[in-house]
Amino acid sequence: MEAIECIKGRRSIRKFDERPVSHELIESIVATAAMAPSWKNTQVTRYIALEGAAKDALAKCTTIWPKNGDIINGAPMVIAVCAVSKRSGYEKDGSFSTNKGDKWEMFDVGAASEAFCLAAHEAGLGTVILGLYDDNAPEVIGVPEGQELIALIPIGFPAESPKAPRRKEVSDLLSFR
Ligand SMILES: Cc1cc2nc3c(=O)[nH]c(=O)nc-3n(C[C@H](O)[C@H](O)[C@H](O)COP(=O)(O)O)c2cc1C
Repeated sequence: MEAIECIKGRRSIRKFDERPVSHELIESIVATAAMAPSWKNTQVTRYIALEGAAKDALAKCTTIWPKNGDIINGAPMVIAVCAVSKRSGYEKDGSFSTNKGDKWEMFDVGAASEAFCLAAHEAGLGTVILGLYDDNAPEVIGVPEGQELIALIPIGFPAESPKAPRRKEVSDLLSFR
């Protein structure tokens, strides 16, 4: 698949069929996402794949937005995307490198997550990034000490093919100086 076709064709998928996602396939998608750029190549993004009982427990951590619980329940696997704390945007002595403080780790995880979703799309899988989950989700998932949960990505074979939500015009997005 051509890169532009992949970028334009990817959609958020919220309904999945019954087929499981193999560990080998997720490993190959993470290997592609690992090629995403990161602050000083710190590579702070981590992926925890949840299936079965672990995924069922996570689905309950969606009282803030119950529709996300339905998506998780209907997906064969959910990836908890985490960031190793206090690396991205930091100098070796622990001080911030820029006035954006620790926000660069969000940037890095965002870039890696998009690469993950595009690699999944190329492999015929659907994904959706979920930012709405309850505060107890990291504990339920078992996010390791020193990492922060950033987003959840349910993944599976699509059972829907939604149209792209309307995008802004380039003239609204781009300006020249
Ligand atoms: C940071 C982030 C958080 C999001 N959180 C949610 C969410 O909690 N629930 C949901 O259904 N979709 C969520 N989405 C998906 C967006 O709604 C979706 O990307 C947007 O509507 C554009 O649609 P598309 O991805 O099909 O192009 C999120 C996307 C991003 C990037």
